[in-house]
Amino acid sequence: MYHPKAHILLKELLSDLPVKLREDQDFILRLTANFPELYSRFQVLYGQRDDIDFQLTTLVNMLAVSYEGRSEKLRETDLSRTRDEGWHLSEKIAGMTLYLDRFCDNLKSFISKIDYLCELGVNLVHLMPLMKGPEEKNDGGYAVSDYQKIDPRYGTNAELKNVISGLHKKDMYLMMDLVVNHTSDQHKWAKEARKGNKQYQDYYYLFEDRIVPDLFERSLPEIFPENSPENFTYSKEMDRWVMTVFNDYQWDLNYANPEVLIKMIRMLLTQANWGVDIFRLDAVAFLWKQLGTSSQNLPEAHIVLQLFKLCTQIVAPGVALLAEAIVSPDEIVKYFGGSKTHNDECDIAYNATLMALLWDAIATHNAKVLNEGMRSMPPKPAGSTWINYVRCHDDIGLGYEDEAIHNAGYTPYSHRRFIVDFFTGQFEGSFAEGMPFMFNPKNGDARISGSLASLAGLEVSLKTGVKANVKKAVNRIILLHSVVISFGGIPMLYYGDEIATLNDYTFLDDPKRSDDNRWIHRPRIDWEVNSKRKERGTPQHTVFTALKRMLKVRSESPEWADHNNCKILDVENEHLFCFERKSQTDITFVIANFKDRPQRVHKDWLVACLHVGVYWDKYTDKPIQLDEGWLTLDPYQFVWLVNKVKRI
Ligand code: GLC
Ligand code: GLC
Repeated sequence: MYHPKAHILLKELLSDLPVKLREDQDFILRLTANFPELYSRFQVLYGQRDDIDFQLTTLVNMLAVSYEGRSEKLRETDLSRTRDEGWHLSEKIAGMTLYLDRFCDNLKSFISKIDYLCELGVNLVHLMPLMKGPEEKNDGGYAVSDYQKIDPRYGTNAELKNVISGLHKKDMYLMMDLVVNHTSDQHKWAKEARKGNKQYQDYYYLFEDRIVPDLFERSLPEIFPENSPENFTYSKEMDRWVMTVFNDYQWDLNYANPEVLIKMIRMLLTQANWGVDIFRLDAVAFLWKQLGTSSQNLPEAHIVLQLFKLCTQIVAPGVALLAEAIVSPDEIVKYFGGSKTHNDECDIAYNATLMALLWDAIATHNAKVLNEGMRSMPPKPAGSTWINYVRCHDDIGLGYEDEAIHNAGYTPYSHRRFIVDFFTGQFEGSFAEGMPFMFNPKNGDARISGSLASLAGLEVSLKTGVKANVKKAVNRIILLHSVVISFGGIPMLYYGDEIATLNDYTFLDDPKRSDDNRWIHRPRIDWEVNSKRKERGTPQHTVFTALKRMLKVRSESPEWADHNNCKILDVENEHLFCFERKSQTDITFVIANFKDRPQRVHKDWLVACLHVGVYWDKYTDKPIQLDEGWLTLDPYQFVWLVNKVKRI
């Protein structure tokens, strides 16, 4: 949209730029192209203020400085990624999330682990938050006290740069967190605010008395009801109530103040200039607060993210943004932006719906809710993609739609109750060993903690020593991965899962961690145990080789690049989850059996989908045997079916 005012302001801004920048076509073109959008979104958020032109000028000057600080090499990467729009959609990307200190130790020792990731077939590394935070009270790194400095526990800024160049030399990518919603109460801004500095007090939500906080509480849910109930914390120094939606030491940032937005975009671009390829923007659903609402997923939160995106597009268009919004399916897709034709907000989002539904299928032994839920997922715009995952460092929340549960023939409340009970050892006969996370007696809500392997039954079956059950558990682990690796999007493995790591109970003896049972699934890797991946017959070996094989097949399957070409199919068997991945030339059918009994698919169905030919399983690299016209899948088996003769 053309805004005469924006035109005039941009003209002034351009004439004030240093000559060298004014002559830089790429920067000028991108700034000019994105400025109208930047201007109009800024108007929506900050139009009431009389200093809006000043704030916009500050923002653009910051963008210019950031661009000047971007190396030639990164600028080239930006241009090549601009040409190859779909770099993050590629079938060749596969990631792993890991805590540096728990995976190896620190940045220095990580260098020698890069080969391990290559061995597995991982080329995108998500290093869990590395920026400086308090020794204690840091929420696993999600309470940051300095956004520009690596925490000495992990090493130095220079060592991070070494890691980045080590990764880039091998054509690998780095993803890092930007904790945008809150800072630690030990951040310089919070310290200044406590001293009474008004400028920094405006960076947060502070209230003199309980009137507004009490009004807020009426509609705000509690995120950590067990160890940080409610959403405000009293600060004696200031005699003020501070908004703290997560832990009481995580102060929510006030994006209604444009200075906060500009500073946080500056942090993002500083790290982008280090060479980070993807930013995981943490807790983005919470970015805007408004009385009388849940203060989640508000339209203004989306505008804030669109501003992040526009600025990234101007300075570092090769960088992708990932939304961490673990919310309902309808709300998640909105983080790709409002346009149907392209994404104008985040490039990537967590597919929390698929993750939770996969666990539903494991507990129920059928794919009814999984099928219902995935079939009703709203479409996402071209250019956007998912992170598909089975497990991450957080709890598993059952945030899918009630309607999916209902359509599958269950009652939502009692069904969710059953799933939580099943995975937390409260359901008799369950094979899972997990813990309830943040049970809230006020509404009966709870989420689930536990390592993938333990939730899938490996811990219990190893304890009881029943070999057949060990095999089943291992097969469940592999089955879950087979879906996330072949589904549309980037598969993100969670460190330790590739060697079937069990629950880690040591957090219970550590006062710094014992009140947060998510630490049960944040293991310290024992590399001796890890080396069992080379010993045939061990769970480590079986799972590692299976994942390695799957990632290899994925990287050789161009039809698995995510061009919104993932379609859920009805295979007329409630225990099976089935979808197709199709390009103009190739097609794969994925069929996954969630039942611990064999399940069948009739040949007619295969012929209708795949035509007559030779059916081949890409995973085993063997032809499919039909028995009297039926394809039989073993308990927890999956197939990646292609027709060797006829191509599409
Ligand atoms: C995100 C993180 C989680 C953290 C929370 C607060 O949800 O994934 O680990 O506790 O944000 O920062
Ligand atoms: C909130 C966040 C979610 C995260 C959790 C941390 O629910 O929305 O992202 O998993 O907190 O436990």
